Amino acid sequence: MIIAVDGPTASGKGTIAKQLAEHYGLKRLDTGSLYRAVGLAVLDAGGDPDDESAAVAAARSLDLGAIDESRIRSSAAGLAASRVAVIPAVRAVMREAQRAFAADPAGAVLDGRDIGTVICPEATVKLFVTASLAERTRRRLAELHARGETISFAELERQIAERDQRDANRKDSPLRQAEGAHLLDTTSLSIEAAAEAAFALVDAALSSPKS
Ligand code: C5P
Repeated sequence: MIIAVDGPTASGKGTIAKQLAEHYGLKRLDTGSLYRAVGLAVLDAGGDPDDESAAVAAARSLDLGAIDESRIRSSAAGLAASRVAVIPAVRAVMREAQRAFAADPAGAVLDGRDIGTVICPEATVKLFVTASLAERTRRRLAELHARGETISFAELERQIAERDQRDANRKDSPLRQAEGAHLLDTTSLSIEAAAEAAFALVDAALSSPKS
């Protein structure tokens, strides 16, 4: 079973994907972390995330097992991620890694932007998780403040809107709701309620096989 979970940043898709993986006993890949790690590697090397050769080199040398989870969560890594993610040659390298992960016969949950559309178009169940820009900014702000990062609501909202625009408008694998994906708006849902709603959607999809 492959569950594809897509949506914009801070929509709750990561939390939902994690809970789906636990609930159904599947492994999970947070594909945003791959792009964040590539963006951060470019920044660490003093490079420019828009520089194709630097970004592709970072993508090729990415070690999935050595991603520094705490450092990739910064707002700078998120912005750099959305810039390297525009580059088709970077996406090609990432595509291979994601498809290899999804090929495991034990099944998997993958979350990102293009899982249901490009990486796993044949996924058993597809979810498209979203929430209002204000609510997503509020959630991400709480996360960043907990990490000790100081950024204003207005600046973060601007950064998230900029990433949304870049993700939705890029030519290669733009963010959009895949055909057949179930929409889950978490704006007014608690984490528990969002997880329950996701379980219900997956259970319903499993009990009514695709025609
Ligand atoms: O989900 P997260 O905010 O960690 O993703 C960081 C960035 O990585 C996104 O803004 C997007 O540009 C990129 N990304 C992508 N395709 C994916 C996952 C993430 O382009 N499957």
